[in-house]
Amino acid sequence: MEYHNPVLLNECIKGLNIKPTGIYVDVTFGGGGHSKLILKNLKGGRLFAFDQDKSAHKNALPAEGFKLINTNFRHLKKFLRMEGVRKIDGLLADLGVSSHQFDVAERGFSIRFNGELDMRMNTNSSLSAKEVVNEYTQQDLANVLYKYGELRNSRAIATKITEASAKEAITTTGQLIDVVVNMVPKKNRNQFLARIFQAIRIEVNDEMKALEEMLLDAVDMLNEGGRLVVLSYHSLEDRMVKNLIKKGKIEGELEKDFFGNPIKDLKEITRKVIVASKRQIEENTRARSAKLRIAEKSK
Ligand SMILES: C[S@@+](CC[C@H](N)C(=O)[O-])C[C@H]1O[C@@H](n2cnc3c(N)ncnc32)[C@H](O)[C@@H]1O
Repeated sequence: MEYHNPVLLNECIKGLNIKPTGIYVDVTFGGGGHSKLILKNLKGGRLFAFDQDKSAHKNALPAEGFKLINTNFRHLKKFLRMEGVRKIDGLLADLGVSSHQFDVAERGFSIRFNGELDMRMNTNSSLSAKEVVNEYTQQDLANVLYKYGELRNSRAIATKITEASAKEAITTTGQLIDVVVNMVPKKNRNQFLARIFQAIRIEVNDEMKALEEMLLDAVDMLNEGGRLVVLSYHSLEDRMVKNLIKKGKIEGELEKDFFGNPIKDLKEITRKVIVASKRQIEENTRARSAKLRIAEKSK
């Protein structure tokens, strides 16, 4: 089975505006679909890729100037410094989970299969979905569901889960689904379950904090004229990227200097967010929720 079919591939590469001799970073290597095309556009340049999932590392590309680093992208600056790199010409982030991660039942990411309640992208990390579901208090679990799943009935869902886990540990995705599935009408079930899974996955992988840290490092490391290209798949990620580009910060309003100039380092390359066409979605369902933002470092 294919590891991952890259989303908005040409749009991302165009967005990077690649200089053949430049230094580029793909912080979400996965199956390497985007990396391969970046490499094709380099001549004398370098590409550093990151993926915290060791299963992605079998896709490493035997190309000159390419290096794949097995760590969380939140350590971008530190690991690039170890490679002697302080400035970069472009960074691509294709956030979230790969099709491969969804498709392997025992990784526990998908509502489609019964598997271990795991959801760790980095299988060495200590927090898995099992701990979140069975050990978090009702209040903490409700917060996770509300914050990361944007579920309005988060308290009721958390109560159901904690009551069930007090009777018998919930160790599989199937058990979790059985506990909550009747809380919504049949027609809304998949979306409801997907949001619960999304919330738990974001918590397990500390995704929002990691994204924030990486984005701030990226802005710092980009050369003037360097490009930031981010593909996100849910509103929380997209909001963070949008704020950084438009307001110069993750939270809060745009500030202006004494002369009325906006205080921010990035300028939008495309005013509106880029989404996939109907045809692209037909060819690759992963493109359905994708939102692409492109910005350039202006100073
Ligand atoms: C949507 S896939 C990327 C697919 C890739 N663009 C391709 O064409 O095959 C996201 C990948 O990023 C990795 N990932 C997600 N968050 C990460 C993080 N914080 N640090 C490092 N890797 C991460 C996941 O393990 C997954 O393999």
